[in-house]
Amino acid sequence: MIEWMHNRLQLQKMGEQEFQAHLSLQRLRPRLEQFWDAQGADAATRHVFELRLEQHWPALFAIMLQLYGSRYDFFYHLEQVLLTAAAGWLARPEPLREVDEHRIHDPDWFLSEKMAGGALYVDLFAENLHRLREHVDYFKRLGLTYLHLMPLFAVRPGNNDGGYAISNYRSVDPRLGTFEDLQTLASDLRAAGISLVLDFVLNHTSDDHQWAKLAQAGDREYQEFYYIFPDRTMPDQYERTLREIFPTVRRGNFTWHDGMQRWVWTTFNSFQWDLNYTNPAVFRAMAEEMLFLANTGVDILRLDAVAFIWKKLGTPCENLPEAHLVIQAFNRIARIAAPGLLFKSEAIVHPDDVVRYISSQECQISYNPTLMALLWESLATRKVSLLARTLSHRHRLPPHTAWVNYLRCHDDIGWTFDDNDAAAIGINAYDHRRFLNQFYTGQFPGSFARGVPFQENRETGDMRISGTMASLAGLEQAIEENDEQKKELAIRRMLLLHGISLSIGGIPLLYLGEEWGMLNDYDFVRDPAKAGDTRWIHRPRMRWEYLQSLDDHIDSGEGSIRKRIFLSTQRLIQLRKELPALAGQDMELISTGNEHLLGYVRLHDGHRLVVLANFSPDPQGIEGNILRTAGLGRFFEDAISKRTYGTAEPVVLEPYQILWLNRV
Ligand code: GLC
Ligand code: GLC
Repeated sequence: MIEWMHNRLQLQKMGEQEFQAHLSLQRLRPRLEQFWDAQGADAATRHVFELRLEQHWPALFAIMLQLYGSRYDFFYHLEQVLLTAAAGWLARPEPLREVDEHRIHDPDWFLSEKMAGGALYVDLFAENLHRLREHVDYFKRLGLTYLHLMPLFAVRPGNNDGGYAISNYRSVDPRLGTFEDLQTLASDLRAAGISLVLDFVLNHTSDDHQWAKLAQAGDREYQEFYYIFPDRTMPDQYERTLREIFPTVRRGNFTWHDGMQRWVWTTFNSFQWDLNYTNPAVFRAMAEEMLFLANTGVDILRLDAVAFIWKKLGTPCENLPEAHLVIQAFNRIARIAAPGLLFKSEAIVHPDDVVRYISSQECQISYNPTLMALLWESLATRKVSLLARTLSHRHRLPPHTAWVNYLRCHDDIGWTFDDNDAAAIGINAYDHRRFLNQFYTGQFPGSFARGVPFQENRETGDMRISGTMASLAGLEQAIEENDEQKKELAIRRMLLLHGISLSIGGIPLLYLGEEWGMLNDYDFVRDPAKAGDTRWIHRPRMRWEYLQSLDDHIDSGEGSIRKRIFLSTQRLIQLRKELPALAGQDMELISTGNEHLLGYVRLHDGHRLVVLANFSPDPQGIEGNILRTAGLGRFFEDAISKRTYGTAEPVVLEPYQILWLNRV
């Protein structure tokens, strides 16, 4: 009776749903206590967990209710999720608990101007994890504070989609090393002040993951981990509203499995089986894998292919509201059991949809695919109108979040800009994408680019582009033609793009190889497991020989180009770290009055930096007055060239020059 009255009072204070959350916890608490007792958990572990539950359980409960509340066994699943979080926290190593504490008190740590990221394949860069440890100095020298290792988990034999067909999230591909190697590397990196980023491939597993194998053996429980259909009835209905992601691999989104005599949902390659998150057992199982990864010392999980994780008949099965809820629930579990962990969204979709994954309750950071695509667009057109128009209303993000700005990555370039943004400035999006594809495959007259098509769909005319940054920026063509002027322009294009990615707001991310001008590798076709996927053209082996001359003073041959690219990129990274105006996200565009010039102001904590970037191969000028109104005063200095300028006359930028202007 007294308890009932107490509950009524609580209810009045809290509101219905929070009260339900509170009740659910009351109901589950004995199970939690049992768990702690059985595990011999100490008082501090329990206490901290309780405090975090108090803070995050109501939100987690509300999401779980929305996702799975209609199930008769909802409470069982809720209990499993609570125990998964408890087990994750209990297993969290002490050094990581310390990191958690720091980050709880400094939640914007990743917004610092000191942040600079890199991404690489362990095998292509250093053979294996053990040998990668020898390169920590290289990362430090380059100024990296964030390192994304491309998927390094156990994979199926043969084609494994560059590691994205995972057969076990808890073991490392034996060719790359062992789990201990990974943990040792993680602590080496932590000691060097470098955050470790790994993939959380949550949309699918490989067809030889234990769960998939059990499903193949006829186990009903595990068949429900995936989307498996006895005949074409459901697949055909779904297919009406689905896109094709890899149309050259297979038409449609389903694959016939001979052994089971059934159809399986496979958005990507036929061996990548989509997980069924409408099943709460899948949610819980993946939450366990997530916390396992967090506890090996991962700082940031890159949430792979997030847009696809929830399916619903009659919809495109991309970017559904429930996909967001699943990630928000994972986020809450992380806040409770591994609060130092951040999520990075990989949603390479329409810009309106990309931004919906970004918030401190969902993914704190996200790839910025639209900026990436539009920087290349601006290089091709030599104009910044579409870029500026897009940035004017799409750069801003919620507090405590950041863009990850990149120029190239292991994937293709898709022209993900908004058709209305284009229409607003008189550009026909369809024609423009065709032009860009022609330009970047080198078919457009005068093009400097050496890209190749990826996933060309002859029905829709769709196509994406593969190629390394240097090859797309003209270096490959220039070296082949041995044309000094073209080489110069190509290098300048690369530095221009780096200069923007490092200054526009957010975390800059290099795809390693960019720092020395890595070119396309056409040999991938010799490996049958890679031949069908042109993305391998921009995934070559690291060429250390190009960097051998870094410390000597010989300046000739191809080595000197590499050296120049390396030293200039390194210098830009260092400079970024010395400019507090470059922290955070805030950016205001400047109307430069010149269609080739992008201009913006970065403001942080009273510090100000004005960036001007020339996307044309000719000199371009801007009125001094415009810069004075942008807050530069009468005299200012370019942090990159150290040249000073005044407002009395126009400021003239050299071909592809970028200026980082400080008031003097
Ligand atoms: C992501 C990866 C890509 C992979 C796909 C399927 O988009 O970046 O490389 O093919 O997911 O996992
Ligand atoms: C599509 C997907 C993206 C994936 C890419 C791989 O763009 O949206 O998630 O990285 O394909 O090519």
